Amino acid sequence: MLGAPGSGKGTQCKRIVTRYGLLHLSSGDILRQQRVEGTELGKTARTYMDSGALVPDQIIVEMMADAIMKAPDAGFVLDGFPRTVNQATELAKSLAAANQKIDVILNLQIDDQLVVERMAGRRSCPQCGAVYNIERFKPKVEGVCDNDGTKLIQRPDDSAEVVANRLETYHLQTEPVIDYYKKNSSTVYDIDANKDAEEVIALVFVKLDALARG
Ligand code: AP5
Ligand code: MG
Repeated sequence: MLGAPGSGKGTQCKRIVTRYGLLHLSSGDILRQQRVEGTELGKTARTYMDSGALVPDQIIVEMMADAIMKAPDAGFVLDGFPRTVNQATELAKSLAAANQKIDVILNLQIDDQLVVERMAGRRSCPQCGAVYNIERFKPKVEGVCDNDGTKLIQRPDDSAEVVANRLETYHLQTEPVIDYYKKNSSTVYDIDANKDAEEVIALVFVKLDALARG
């Protein structure tokens, strides 16, 4: 699943893994978990993440190769990885080593202005990673996670200034990944992620159901 910050990758991946029985492998979620656990990896990633820059490729490639090796044969959805062309070429090696392949790439396309609005309204559970929005996806009780009752937070990288940096990083470093896959004849579906979340997932399920039927 490729797409700009706030395009809805996490929101839609959660629905996909539930429907098709897959594992959700989000590089951002894994990094945030490492930070909570206070590991060396988490400490190194912190400065990059909080400024809106990418964590260096070498760290990410190793981290995701490890996650892919441990993933069940039933398959997985990659969320937020790869994010550079170098990560994409390294991913191909990790997949070959794990006897896995990319079946489809979903590319969520969204206008920058909408990203800024969604990020301003996002609230996240630091415990289970659930994502809410104060406009669109409100928790049952204001400020509290539906799943575990934890107090919701605003991600430190969701400030307007950092969101601007993340968008710039996306356009410069991650958009070329889409061209890379389109040129390498992978199946890439562009999805209009400006739409309502229900419309977006309906578009995604049409594509994935067809793929599942073979
Ligand atoms: P990461 O956690 O991957 O952040 P991101 O790509 O910036 O994307 P987000 O998680 O912010 O947004 P999302 O697309 O998942 O949207 P969501 O569903 O939450 O990465 C964070 C950082 O880690 C990076 O900046 C980098 O430093 C580092 N990193 C991670 N991966 C890396 C890699 N591969 N290489 C190097 N560094 C890496 O939705 C957003 C909001 O909108 C929510 O409030 C949601 O409820 C709402 N919403 C969703 N869909 C809709 C809709 N259709 N309509 C209305 N509201 C919606
Ligand atoms: Mg996400």
